[in-house]
Formats: sequence, C-alpha cells, structure tokens
Amino acid sequence: MARFSSLLASAACVVVPLVALVVPGLTEPTQIATITGTQGLENIAVRSSGELLVTSTTSNLIFMVFPDGGRDPVAVAELDSSFNATLGIAELTRDVFYVIGAQVNGLTMISGSAGIWKVDLRPMTLQGGAVSQPADVSLLTAIPSAQLLNGLCRLAENDTEHILISDSVAGSISRLNVETLEYETVISDETMRVTTSSIAIGIDGIRIFQNTLYFTNINQALFASVPISLVDGTATGPIEVIADLSQGDDFAITPDGQKAIVAQNGLMTLASIDLSSGSVQVIANSTLLSATSSLAFGRRCADSKSIYVSGSASMGDTTVGSVLKLEL
Ligand SMILES: *[C@@H]1O[C@H](CO)[C@@H](O)[C@H](O)[C@H]1NC(C)=O
Ligand SMILES: *[C@@H]1O[C@H](CO)[C@@H](O)[C@H](O)[C@H]1NC(C)=O
Ligand SMILES: *[C@@H]1O[C@H](CO)[C@@H](O)[C@H](O)[C@H]1NC(C)=O
Repeated sequence: MARFSSLLASAACVVVPLVALVVPGLTEPTQIATITGTQGLENIAVRSSGELLVTSTTSNLIFMVFPDGGRDPVAVAELDSSFNATLGIAELTRDVFYVIGAQVNGLTMISGSAGIWKVDLRPMTLQGGAVSQPADVSLLTAIPSAQLLNGLCRLAENDTEHILISDSVAGSISRLNVETLEYETVISDETMRVTTSSIAIGIDGIRIFQNTLYFTNINQALFASVPISLVDGTATGPIEVIADLSQGDDFAITPDGQKAIVAQNGLMTLASIDLSSGSVQVIANSTLLSATSSLAFGRRCADSKSIYVSGSASMGDTTVGSVLKLEL
C-alpha cells in the first residue's frame, strides 16, 4: 500500500535500514483494537499523523484506529448502503484516500457492484472521541466491468493522479486516473489468474517499490514482481515469480525495499520474503494471527519499525475485526 512513501513520510525520521532489524526468531503480536461492527477486517492504511484506517468485507464503514491505544476506534466514512464491503485502500495526497467499495458475499463480489470511493479526511475533526466534523466521502466512479476488485496502491511515489487496482477474478491490474476517471487494464497475465481448484482469488495484494510492482496470488500460492512504467503502469519486463507461499494475502514492502512481509491468512503466521533471493522466513506465529489479511508499517518515527495487521478475532460465537501490532 506504499504507506512508507518517501514523499509522504515524516521528514524528521532517521531511516534505519530495516534489514538489520529483521533478526531470526519470532515476534509476538499484541492486539491494539477490536471492531465489533464487523466480522473481520480486510485492509489497512496509515495516516501520516499515525492513525490507522481499516476496511472490512462485512461493512460499508471505514474505521480509524488509534495505534497507541486508550481510545476506541471511530467510523470515519460510510459508503452508500448499496455497498456493503470495503477493500483495498491507499493515500494519494496527504489525508486523501481511495478505497474499493462493493457488495461482497463471502469470497465473491456481486457482479457490477464495484466502485472507487474517495475519502477526504482533511475537513474531519474529532471531539471527545467522536467525529464532530465529517470527512468528505464520495463515490468517484463505478467500475461495472470488475469481477472482484481487491488490492489498491498508488502508481508511483511522485504521482498523485493514478492508482492501480487488482482484480482477483479477472487476473489483471487496472489503472484509474482519479481526476479524469480514465480506467484501463494495464497488465493481465496467467500468474494473476485463478488456475487451480484452491480458493478462487487470484492476484490479491499489490504494492510498488520504485518501479517494481509486487503481487501475491492466493489461488496459485505465489509472490511475484514485474517492472512497470511509472507513467502508465504497463509492464516493461517479464513477470518473475519470486517465491512460492503456502498462503499469501496482502503484504507490505519494508522501507528499504529488501523484504516483503506477508499476511498468511489462515496459517496464523507472517512471512518475510527476501526480495532478491526469494527465501521465505516465518517471523511471527500466533493464534492471534489466524485470519490476518493485510498489514502496513507505521509512518511515525516512533513506530516506523512496527507492523500493524488487520484481521479478525473470536468473540463469543462470532468474530470481530481485530488490529494487531508487532515490532520488527
Ligand atoms: C452484502 O450483500 C450481498 C449481496 O446482496 C449479500 O449476499 C451479503 O450477505 C451482504 N453482506 C453482508 C455482510 O451483509
Ligand atoms: C515520476 O518519475 C518517473 C521516473 O523519474 C517519471 O517517468 C514520471 O513521469 C514521473 N511522474 C510524474 C507524475 O511526475
Ligand atoms: C506455528 O506454531 C504452531 C504451534 O506451535 C506449529 O504447529 C506450526 O508448525 C508453526 N508454524 C510454522 C510455519 O512455523
């Protein structure tokens, strides 16, 4: 989700190379929030001021979570009631986020239901733990041709107009210009499609680091990269499968661009993939991680080595959204 964009990162932070910090051994997650209005969380983005924004495939709300605890999560955006799920989310300019909305039933998206929403947090104010002045929330464009929109990231660190969006059933990545609303498929490949009898979600998470786009494919249990044009998002070289993963949902690239930390939804683990060698190491293994779908690095100096993870937790005989924190 390019949360650690150099343009957006706090200029005062001293960037410590993360490679030295990913030491062998396991790190323990702590739960920092639960969100009872959902049955689980889908994606996660971080504001430059540190708060987390989380989406859910069982809610049309987007919640803000305070990473240091002590305050309850608040709903900061509500999509129109014809949407009942929110998925990939990314920021293009400070506090202006773009989010996939859709009608989702379990693991399938109702045909024709997808749209990209704009959530502008700039007008929002909070008072006493509640929203006193709302965010500006609007449907930017419907994407009726989409089959299952899932991951969303910016096209380039220096670009505030284009987002890339993955379609897990079509097996493709499209580019949307958020000003002109021009929408075009830029990469469609066998490595992005559903080709096995496993769960019917192909390409899932997408992230860029410089001019390389990385992606997971849940159905094919792979993690791959492709060099792209920073002008239009098309591939400028071959797709390379970097690692086979027993399970790989969404992920984050470390700020130094050397590793990907992957949420292994269903396995209770997070994996670290060395992007040059392709070696995979389990860095966390906890029942708290049983349904983790995405993760993001903190953007403040104080939490630039922390990973925030979105997932779900059991509560009685149901499940609720859960946000975890791990220190690398
Ligand atoms: C969302 O809408 C779809 C289509 O109407 C429905 O099948 C699904 O159960 C709804 N999801 C929730 C969480 O209510
Ligand atoms: C961003 O930088 C790349 C590489 O220098 C360049 O090709 C591209 O045109 C730039 N994009 C924008 C929107 O400035
Ligand atoms: C995670 O821990 C469980 C329980 O200790 C163990 O059975 C499992 O093999 C571990 N998974 C990995 C990938 O290390």
